[in-house]
Amino acid sequence: MAKSKVGKKTVKARSENVAAIHMIDLIRKKRDGVELDARELACIASGAARESIPAEQLAAWLMAAWIRGLSLQETRALTLAMRDSGEKFDPKPLRKTAVDKHSTGGVGDKTSFLVAPLAAACGVAVPMISGRALGHTGGTLDKLESIPGYRTELTLAKFERVLKRCGASIVSQTPKLVPADRVLYALRDRTGTVENSGLICASILSKKLAAGLNALVLDVKTGSGAFLKKREDAEYLAALMVATAEAAGTRTAALLTDMSQPLGRAAGNWIEIAECVALLRGERPAGCEDLRELSLQLAGWMIHLGGKATTPARGYQLAEAALVDGTGLARFLKMVDAQGGDIRVFDDPQKFHRPRATRVVPAWTSGYVAAMDTTALGWAVQRLGAGREKAGEPVDPHAGIVFHVKRGERVKRGASFATLYATSAKLLDEPEHLIRDAIQWSAEAPPAVPLISRVFTRSEAESHLAAATARD
Ligand code: URA
Repeated sequence: MAKSKVGKKTVKARSENVAAIHMIDLIRKKRDGVELDARELACIASGAARESIPAEQLAAWLMAAWIRGLSLQETRALTLAMRDSGEKFDPKPLRKTAVDKHSTGGVGDKTSFLVAPLAAACGVAVPMISGRALGHTGGTLDKLESIPGYRTELTLAKFERVLKRCGASIVSQTPKLVPADRVLYALRDRTGTVENSGLICASILSKKLAAGLNALVLDVKTGSGAFLKKREDAEYLAALMVATAEAAGTRTAALLTDMSQPLGRAAGNWIEIAECVALLRGERPAGCEDLRELSLQLAGWMIHLGGKATTPARGYQLAEAALVDGTGLARFLKMVDAQGGDIRVFDDPQKFHRPRATRVVPAWTSGYVAAMDTTALGWAVQRLGAGREKAGEPVDPHAGIVFHVKRGERVKRGASFATLYATSAKLLDEPEHLIRDAIQWSAEAPPAVPLISRVFTRSEAESHLAAATARD
């Protein structure tokens, strides 16, 4: 096989007569707004996966792609190349329909811990490849690793064994499984290149398609805590992901959901897991109605697309029954145990929560909470120690924020607004200021925002993209 140069290192070109590809040319092309072809994008994905392209060149290309954007063709080609950058999971031996859910990222966004066991309890297999904290948002894997012993990096053989036993397994990309996303995801986090529809689509779908899914439900966030805050950008992302996944053979639906405030009450690592376990136990904690409702809606769609319910509404009923009768909780505990986690911590989740520093922030004014800058709230959570400053750093499992007030609620000055948990007392001040600056107050109740504002299936996605292309 011929070898071509990428940067200073070499990557293998596909055949003897393929012209050499130089990374510097791909950076300059993207910088100048020239569309890259599938072979060029495959070189970037495989060079990222094998770490044969220097980080500074990948970072420069990512920034050029962020500024110039990726065309529909580029997005599809990059998605497939990233999917193919490593091993793939084959769900056929599970003898069940493989269905998953993925969110575009938010604050307190923890529905995975509810939908995976609930959908599994209703008869579909959920092979979930997830990510770590990205930008201002928390990471599913970081949250799971707050459970002592829980292992997120499994071999494909072990992944299959857990899925056969429990119906659901939540794991990370590895040096073998979607390695291109592992490298590019961490680099995007450090270079301010997260908020781009093509890059988000390729990152999410490469992981989902490598899991060999039959069906997929996407939770596309819109509002102040989403990566793409404007509704029209979130709609475009939803349509782009549905059309790209469908073209790759996976039945897909996307729900456009509200991220104008944290989901539920808790945002952090362990405190988010504990909140989900309370819901799985059938509790109805105040302020978690949105989390419960969204999780049941997403699970309902998973169960429907997985062929276990004739409609998403029937899927919702089945998911709710599994929540109420405790089969969802049993699945969750079985999965945690199978992945090495110590389930004794769930005997008393409050006792296990051992933050080094705590501060209650009282409301600094009276009135209705009219709006929240949820991205700033997400940064406050990360700076308490729940997220990383640098790639590879450990996160504090016990850091985070519990919000006692939701958007639209009326509060009296002096009442508890939020409780902060930090790695050390010196980390408490900046997040408190971030919270104070992030809240807008009003004398009247603000208008309600729907939790789910739109659903895209294949036909809506294709017509939305066709209309967007015609406008450009
Ligand atoms: N989740 C991902 O896996 N990737 C992104 O780019 C954003 C959210």
